[in-house]
Amino acid sequence: MAVLITASHLWILSSAFLLEFTSADQKIITAESGQDVTLTCRAPNNNIMILEWNRTDLGDKHVLVYRDGHFVPEEQHPSFENRVDLQDRQMKDGDVSLILKNVTINDTGTYECRVFENETRSWKSLSNITLSVVDGGEKSGSVGLIVLVVSAVFLVAAAVAGFLIYRKHNSQNQDSY
Ligand SMILES: *[C@@H]1O[C@H](CO)[C@@H](O)[C@H](O)[C@H]1NC(C)=O
Ligand SMILES: *[C@@H]1O[C@H](CO)[C@@H](O)[C@H](O)[C@H]1NC(C)=O
Ligand SMILES: *[C@@H]1O[C@H](CO)[C@@H](O)[C@H](O)[C@H]1NC(C)=O
Ligand SMILES: *[C@@H]1O[C@H](CO)[C@@H](O)[C@H](O)[C@H]1NC(C)=O
Ligand SMILES: *[C@@H]1O[C@H](CO)[C@@H](O)[C@H](O)[C@H]1NC(C)=O
Repeated sequence: MAVLITASHLWILSSAFLLEFTSADQKIITAESGQDVTLTCRAPNNNIMILEWNRTDLGDKHVLVYRDGHFVPEEQHPSFENRVDLQDRQMKDGDVSLILKNVTINDTGTYECRVFENETRSWKSLSNITLSVVDGGEKSGSVGLIVLVVSAVFLVAAAVAGFLIYRKHNSQNQDSY
């Protein structure tokens, strides 16, 4: 009996791990427009000659190209000009994470992180991250409007109810005289 319980616990534990794995593997990030987003990516080492971040629909331009310790603006798509940076330009411990500033709904898409390694002299795809940007300003604006309308209705209702109660109370008082 005790063994059975342990076994089912183990099963639950392992399926929880499995769930964690699949969600970590899919890498979907949701952000509101105007936010700064970090797309996390890690290389196995920092023997990196070229780091490239690209998005599926940019053609032959890229989100960011970092070669021999320098950004390569000629190969960057204009929509990312002055909006991207590396979390760590030294790429310490292989940290090649990208910071994307002031995102818009047009930044929605799948971003791939790849490196050209010094040792293997070949490209290696490290990660694909799907970013989904929602229009946060509009959403919070309409929420604010709803809150305003609801509280206005509530206030009017409370005022009317208060007035009715007051009148009823008054007329009752008059009746008793
Ligand atoms: C690449 O490897 C060579 C030889 O191993 C080394 O001299 C050079 O500094 C390395 N470059 C980078 C960017 O790590
Ligand atoms: C990134 O660029 C490489 C080479 O241009 C291409 O093979 C790869 O499919 C691109 N990845 C994405 C997500 O667009
Ligand atoms: C963010 O981008 C919007 C246009 O997309 C621009 O109007 C705004 O000034 C930008 N904000 C910052 C802090 O750069
Ligand atoms: C998104 O792209 C479209 C078409 O290129 C453009 O008209 C629009 O202004 C862009 N929106 C934002 C928020 O940058
Ligand atoms: C990312 O997507 C590209 C293009 O679909 C693919 O070639 C690459 O293997 C993927 N990389 C990873 C780490 O899954």
